[in-house]
Amino acid sequence: MTDVQLNHRYLAACAIAREAGRLIRLRFEQRGEALTHKFKGPQDYLTETDAEVERLIAARIAESFPDDDFFGEEGGGSFGRDVWIVDPIDGTADFARGVPHFCVSIAFVRDGRTEIGVLYDPMLDELFAARRGAGATLNGVPIKVSTIADIGQSVVELGWSSRIPFEGFATVQGRLQALGAGVKRRGSGALGIAYVAMGRQDAYCELHINSWDAAAAVLLVEEAGGWANDFLTPECLRSGNRVIVCTPALREQIERAMDI
Ligand code: IPD
Ligand code: CA
Repeated sequence: MTDVQLNHRYLAACAIAREAGRLIRLRFEQRGEALTHKFKGPQDYLTETDAEVERLIAARIAESFPDDDFFGEEGGGSFGRDVWIVDPIDGTADFARGVPHFCVSIAFVRDGRTEIGVLYDPMLDELFAARRGAGATLNGVPIKVSTIADIGQSVVELGWSSRIPFEGFATVQGRLQALGAGVKRRGSGALGIAYVAMGRQDAYCELHINSWDAAAAVLLVEEAGGWANDFLTPECLRSGNRVIVCTPALREQIERAMDI
């Protein structure tokens, strides 16, 4: 794939994320039906808007790149050499409960490697975008991870889901707090990782997260000078993986805390 073709995809990802974000925001403000939710599993929310937004994104990608594969959190899809991995709303639980903290996440993956990662938070009008080798930006302005090296001064977000037993989460949380980290958990893994890329927090870790939640955001951290584990393994595309991203200085301590 040429640089021009990749750049075409990068610009398309940014435009589609913004369009999808406008739809999410409209539905959020309409409340009612759009926020009515079901559960896919324990604490795993689903609204009609998730599927509606994913259909919009899939249609836009198919119009412009009919030969690329597509995989979305809600509708699934297929994985080929060139595949778009999409989470229409990351932070669905907050969206459904009326909390304005969620985003759309779009990754373009070639030969198993994330080349493009774009997130859009429609409530704050924040577009995070990265192209491998070309840096990461927030609304067009380059971003960098924080320079915090003392874990006692750090903010670490530790995500959880009901996909894995809670004991592991409790162990990691205890270790991080014993080290003096300010441990948080918000409701969007994708935004949590993006916040590391731009220095609002210093690490994000979770013992299991899916590729559609984190692939785009992990590239942001790598391109913003941070450290990330080898997240997008071949198995991760379908079944997820643990994720650790942080400032380079915190790597050793965060990795040890996550070593279970
Ligand atoms: C979830 C969020 C959450 C993370 C979970 C994800 P969803 O995605 O990213 O912060 O901890 O692992 O499943 O359900 O909001 O799309
Ligand atoms: Ca998600």
